[in-house]
Amino acid sequence: MSVELHEVSLRYPGTDLVIDRLSTRIDQGEFIAVLGASGCGKSSLLNMIAGLLQPSDGWLDVPADGAAFMFQDANLLPWLSAAQNIELALKLGGFPEAQRAARVEQLLELVQLGHAGHRKPHELSGGMRQRVALARSLAQDRQVLLMDEPFAALDAITRDMLHEQLRQLWESTGKTIVFVTHNVREAIRLAGRILVLSSHPGRILETRQITDGLRRDPARCAALADELTTILRKEQAKHERSGIAT
Ligand SMILES: Nc1ncnc2c1ncn2[C@@H]1O[C@H](COP(=O)(O)OP(=O)(O)OP(=O)(O)O)[C@@H](O)[C@H]1O
Ligand SMILES: [Mg+2]
Repeated sequence: MSVELHEVSLRYPGTDLVIDRLSTRIDQGEFIAVLGASGCGKSSLLNMIAGLLQPSDGWLDVPADGAAFMFQDANLLPWLSAAQNIELALKLGGFPEAQRAARVEQLLELVQLGHAGHRKPHELSGGMRQRVALARSLAQDRQVLLMDEPFAALDAITRDMLHEQLRQLWESTGKTIVFVTHNVREAIRLAGRILVLSSHPGRILETRQITDGLRRDPARCAALADELTTILRKEQAKHERSGIAT
């Protein structure tokens, strides 16, 4: 089932319009990246898709089982092992107890952490912690996975590896993924479609389809990255000139 946003607007109490009549349809199994300057409303958009925030105007149609969320910070419970953190998510989701241990193993394998389930968060690297957080999001077993800058705090090599794993995971699970990032190259590497949001208020400024052919062509990727970076810089400069803090 798709996610549909129809003329969605958002205003927090006492603020100007944060998101202005945003419409798009995200098909089941699509991988979308959302790019935009800090403060343009990306997290707010994910919160609305997750049902944590109601739009001020317009409507959203989201699959009945809702969406799983993954944040920049893994937020694992420090006194529980990686496996126990995942198991807790299964328990909270009502997953049958008898099958939980096997499912935890499966999820750990899926994020290539089959060997590390017994470790506590402080015994894991940042990349490993994010993979546990990813497994925990997958434990919620929703069709839609919302990811809010999940790899922003990681070094480039770890991030590269996680990109590879996330693409594989997306291909094998058929999840619908909405991935928020500031990183243009990350968006090109991962998504089938990129939405670039404007700021103050957030609207869809540009949409780009990314084909596998483009992804395999470094020169075209670099040209698109330059183009998107220019669009983002221009957008940011517009607001700096008009004195709106981002
Ligand atoms: N609870 C809130 N109450 C009032 N204003 C808010 C609230 N949450 C966010 N905002 C404002 O709404 C705008 C969009 O915030 P949001 O967090 O969605 O942006 P973002 O694109 O995710 O930014 P970043 O890239 O920095 O994470 C900002 O101007 C922010 O100050
Ligand atoms: Mg944000």
